[in-house]
Amino acid sequence: MMKTKHETTKSLSYFPSSSSTLSIINLLCCLTFLTLPTSTLSTILHSNETDRIALLDFKHRISHDPREVLLNSWNDSVHHCRWQGVSCGRRHQRVVALRLPEKGLVGTISPHIGNLTFRRDFNLSGNGLYGQVPSEIGKLLRLRSLNLFANALTGELAGVNLSSCVRLEQIVISRNGLHGRLPVRLSSLKKLRSLRLGRNHFTGGIPPSFGNLSSLQFLGLDENHLGGSVPNEISELWGLNILLLDANNLTGTLSSSLFNITSVRVISITDNSL
Ligand SMILES: *[C@@H]1O[C@H](CO)[C@@H](O)[C@H](O)[C@H]1NC(C)=O
Ligand SMILES: *[C@@H]1O[C@H](CO)[C@@H](O)[C@H](O)[C@H]1NC(C)=O
Ligand SMILES: *[C@@H]1O[C@H](CO)[C@@H](O)[C@H](O)[C@H]1NC(C)=O
Ligand SMILES: *[C@@H]1O[C@H](CO)[C@@H](O)[C@H](O)[C@H]1NC(C)=O
Ligand SMILES: *[C@@H]1O[C@H](CO)[C@@H](O)[C@H](O)[C@H]1NC(C)=O
Repeated sequence: MMKTKHETTKSLSYFPSSSSTLSIINLLCCLTFLTLPTSTLSTILHSNETDRIALLDFKHRISHDPREVLLNSWNDSVHHCRWQGVSCGRRHQRVVALRLPEKGLVGTISPHIGNLTFRRDFNLSGNGLYGQVPSEIGKLLRLRSLNLFANALTGELAGVNLSSCVRLEQIVISRNGLHGRLPVRLSSLKKLRSLRLGRNHFTGGIPPSFGNLSSLQFLGLDENHLGGSVPNEISELWGLNILLLDANNLTGTLSSSLFNITSVRVISITDNSL
């Protein structure tokens, strides 16, 4: 943080410091920023120090750490790239993965995780994390895998805008306490292979837009309270392997074209009124 500020001051001091010149510089900066691709922009704004701050904030929001994973290994005498569960890129030393599955961690998920802009893999499955899924996850443009399976997360997922995370291949948030409608703006996730949101309290039906998730192989929405019918659009998912819709108060009839998808291995629809 300090370093970044220092550098900024230094580069500005090369220019005469009249306010008009400064505002022109500001304008130029803004224009340059506007024309830069978003990935370059985040490289400029976020340094490796930001990663460390984000990880420390993540640690501070964990109130119970029975195996002392964070308490013991996340300390100042070790670089954060060597903290347990943290992986960094070889070249740029930025955090690319946070993997702490089944560590008994209790606490909330820090919004700072949205600053770990190089992150591809996020695995916190099988802990006791509660509170909301932070909307800041939508800032992780490189994210490929989001796994929050089996925690105690509540709140809505509909407000988390993942439409910029176009590299996402899997979203696993099953076995939590999420409610509200299923997220509808996932159509831009053309690489999404696995969407598992089963065993929550989602309502409001299955969005027809799920039919646009052209790479989807696994759709798990079982044990929610979705209601409504299964939209015909689901049978447009030509790569679908597994479809889990059990126990959802679903009504109507299942489109016969669903059974014509050659890749389908499992369709599970028990405990509905289909
Ligand atoms: C961040 O990067 C700078 C420049 O490469 C380096 O001097 C500094 O030690 C790094 N800090 C951390 C915490 O990795
Ligand atoms: C810091 O963490 C390392 C493992 O990452 C551990 O070996 C060391 O004992 C820890 N030091 C302190 C002071 O807790
Ligand atoms: C995440 O952790 C769980 C539990 O250890 C594991 O089954 C899963 O394969 C891991 N990786 C991903 C990418 O979800
Ligand atoms: C990181 O994220 C948090 C919360 O989203 C924000 O308040 C903070 O200013 C961000 N930036 C840095 C450099 O830590
Ligand atoms: C979601 O994010 C995309 C891309 O950043 C943006 O175009 C869209 O307006 C956002 N949607 C909402 C509802 O915020």
